[in-house]
Amino acid sequence: MSKPHNHPALTTSTGAPVVSNQASLTVGHDGPMLLQDMHFIDKMAHFDRERIPERVVHAKGAGAFGYFECALDGLGSSLSCADFLSKKGKRTPVLARFSTVGGEKGSADTARDPRGFAIKFYTDQGNFDMVGNNTPVFFVRDAIKFPDFIHTQKRNPQTNLKDPDAFWDFASLVPESLHQFTVLFSSRGTPDGFRHMHGFSSNTLSMVSTSGQIRYVKLHFITDQGIKNLTDEEATRLAGTDPDYATRDLFEAIERRDFPSWTVYVQAMTPEECAQFEVNPFDVTKVWRHGLVSMLKIGRMVLDRNPDNFFAQIEQAAFAPANMVPGIEPSPDRMLQGRLFSYKDTHRHRLGTNHHLIPVNAPLPAAHPANYQRDGDMNTGPNGKSRPNYEPNSHDGTPRQVGQAAGDTPFVPVHHKDSGPKDLQFTIGRYEYKLTDTDFVQPGLLYRLLKLEEQKALTDNLGNHLAAAKREIQTRQLDNIRRADEAYAQGVSKAILLSSSKL
Ligand code: HEM
Repeated sequence: MSKPHNHPALTTSTGAPVVSNQASLTVGHDGPMLLQDMHFIDKMAHFDRERIPERVVHAKGAGAFGYFECALDGLGSSLSCADFLSKKGKRTPVLARFSTVGGEKGSADTARDPRGFAIKFYTDQGNFDMVGNNTPVFFVRDAIKFPDFIHTQKRNPQTNLKDPDAFWDFASLVPESLHQFTVLFSSRGTPDGFRHMHGFSSNTLSMVSTSGQIRYVKLHFITDQGIKNLTDEEATRLAGTDPDYATRDLFEAIERRDFPSWTVYVQAMTPEECAQFEVNPFDVTKVWRHGLVSMLKIGRMVLDRNPDNFFAQIEQAAFAPANMVPGIEPSPDRMLQGRLFSYKDTHRHRLGTNHHLIPVNAPLPAAHPANYQRDGDMNTGPNGKSRPNYEPNSHDGTPRQVGQAAGDTPFVPVHHKDSGPKDLQFTIGRYEYKLTDTDFVQPGLLYRLLKLEEQKALTDNLGNHLAAAKREIQTRQLDNIRRADEAYAQGVSKAILLSSSKL
């Protein structure tokens, strides 16, 4: 005897019962199909529209939910008036998404690439998105260069192949990228999954205390699982045998309740300290060396819940550096400034005007949006019900401005010697960062910090990749590396020769 079933009725998307989901409506057994097969048309038309644009960068990724627990004891308000940092033990729900950068949505998780490290904090004062990477620095330091840089990491417009000439042509012509390329071609360029890597805001943000004092800050998420990397060979093998390696690792760890966590720290400097700092603190190609700026523990992030549905909760997640809360604000970091526009702009394209109404992007009920924005495509919210859609108005109970908001604290001017002549400061213009010897100091320091075998892995990884580019591009990039460290350049040069002899 077959078991009794208790299934709900299958319906069309407008809720009408479906008689058959296995046979289309046809004229006789062998005749054509009918336009009046509403269920077929509803089903097929929806299927035809299933794909939305993938993210223009960071298309491949995985995510999970969890919480951030504040560790600041009484110190919170003197650093930032952000409510989620206000008291020790306060828990704030988070969504994390980790990703590779250059590859398409179906590309391998183990590619040599930075990893995205995006965290949405659902705070009682609205959403704060920390959209960082697993590297503390970046390739370029002015947002205007980002689209060109990304083009060189993607496919050649004619061959549709990855293009080592474009990759190294740009890198060698933009030597400010050497620090990030040194990180990328070290073992940290191929992390062993998403759980064994750190995360960094990379960009400099500002924190504003309850008394209005500004500190410029960088955020660090230090993995409690410890750093683990793949060798170049392992990463290449896994790209073939298990391209979703990191996605699987994260999902399975959470399923078996082995919840990954990160301890969160902040490095903070006053505007006066920034002005005197050894490098321009708003130049994202540079770190703030730990010996110079100490790390203050502010909390811990734990991921303890997998998404129920990948598309609804991860693909549709919209992280934006412009999503800030009172107490966390922008800085004059030019990359951050450019990003403040780009992400929300791409969300309007990728997900629509009303992307903030998608449940995963909506703030907590305590921070429910109350404003005069109305209508737009796919408006699934109450749309302000019958309330007035303009302000000022003479109706009671309508939303009113509260005074200070995130992003409104005026920058405290910081003039750093690497920024150019002081008298030009705050005069509107297009001021290029000049390339100076300072730009090669940190890549050199990083190289010399590595153990011998790590230096060898770096120079081999770099040499093997650079070997595929044209000779004159190789020479130009070797000259850049030599400005950082002679032995570093010699190692890469040797690896190029060895790799070329095998081609
Ligand atoms: C994703 C632009 C620099 C980290 C994206 C997206 C865009 C973008 C358009 C796709 C967003 C989406 O479709 O939801 C830019 C621009 C940059 C820049 C214009 C420089 C001016 C950076 C830097 C970092 C970073 C410096 C790290 C510190 C990320 C991450 C994602 C992302 C983690 C994926 C977010 C997610 O998981 O949905 N970026 N980006 N980006 N970017 Fe950037």
